[in-house]
Amino acid sequence: MPSVIDIAREVKALPAMSVTAQRVIEITHNPRANAAGLQDVILYDQALSTHLLRVANSPFYSPRVPVTEVQRAVVLLGFEQVKKICIFYATKGILKRPGLAETLLWEHSLGTSIAARVVAEHWQPDIAAQAFTAGLLHDVGKSVLMGIPEADYESLLRTFYNESIPLAELERDRYGFDHAYVGAQVSLHWKLPQVLVKAIAHHHGEVPADLTQDQTDLTRILRLANRFAHAAGIGRREPLATSDWGAVAENPGFPGAAVAGIFDHFMHEYEQERARMDVAAM
Ligand SMILES: [Fe+2]
Ligand SMILES: [Fe+2]
Repeated sequence: MPSVIDIAREVKALPAMSVTAQRVIEITHNPRANAAGLQDVILYDQALSTHLLRVANSPFYSPRVPVTEVQRAVVLLGFEQVKKICIFYATKGILKRPGLAETLLWEHSLGTSIAARVVAEHWQPDIAAQAFTAGLLHDVGKSVLMGIPEADYESLLRTFYNESIPLAELERDRYGFDHAYVGAQVSLHWKLPQVLVKAIAHHHGEVPADLTQDQTDLTRILRLANRFAHAAGIGRREPLATSDWGAVAENPGFPGAAVAGIFDHFMHEYEQERARMDVAAM
């Protein structure tokens, strides 16, 4: 079984996050950021520019005139969409989809990112992009565990899918730590903003009392988003039965009674966004 030391070694061996990816995450985390700032980062990175143009010219958008300039792509796609494309680009190569387990994880990550954005929009619109990134990356620890043959993570996932025992519990029983711990180590390695590190670290288990207010807020949004994705059955064999949305929300100041409505809004958004997200992540 992998120990904490083995995990530290695996994490250290992961490639560092590129400067572009770090800048993208930084800029999209700033609620006051505008399209111009992001455009500068895109223009500076040849591969990202090419990627953005490829998305803009894809059959999904099928522009009447081919898009050959980044500036025009930003106008055509809109700032919100460009932000997403850049966030996907920043996380590319991390969330791979070669097999069934990885595909299910990818689906779950997408579902959680949309859910996190929707929950944030209802509660704290300023941090919607931050929440989106948190949702996309929250289970990155699972990707790392999947890559360690001695961990035999597949068998653990099978138990999870067949018996519906919470995965983090199974992991703690077997390894002495869970994927949230691994994910936090990865986020530290990538020098992600502290608020993201904390949210990823605490998306299962107790929310520690010593988090700052913005760390607590993002963590709670992420936890609810994760529950939404599970309740929708995204990336699972069967939806997770949920009877008490108020208890699930666990947010003081969060409209507990409104949670069921926000869940419906999420489901609607998920159906709308799903195809667009595949294009953004291509
Ligand atoms: Fe998780
Ligand atoms: Fe999750």
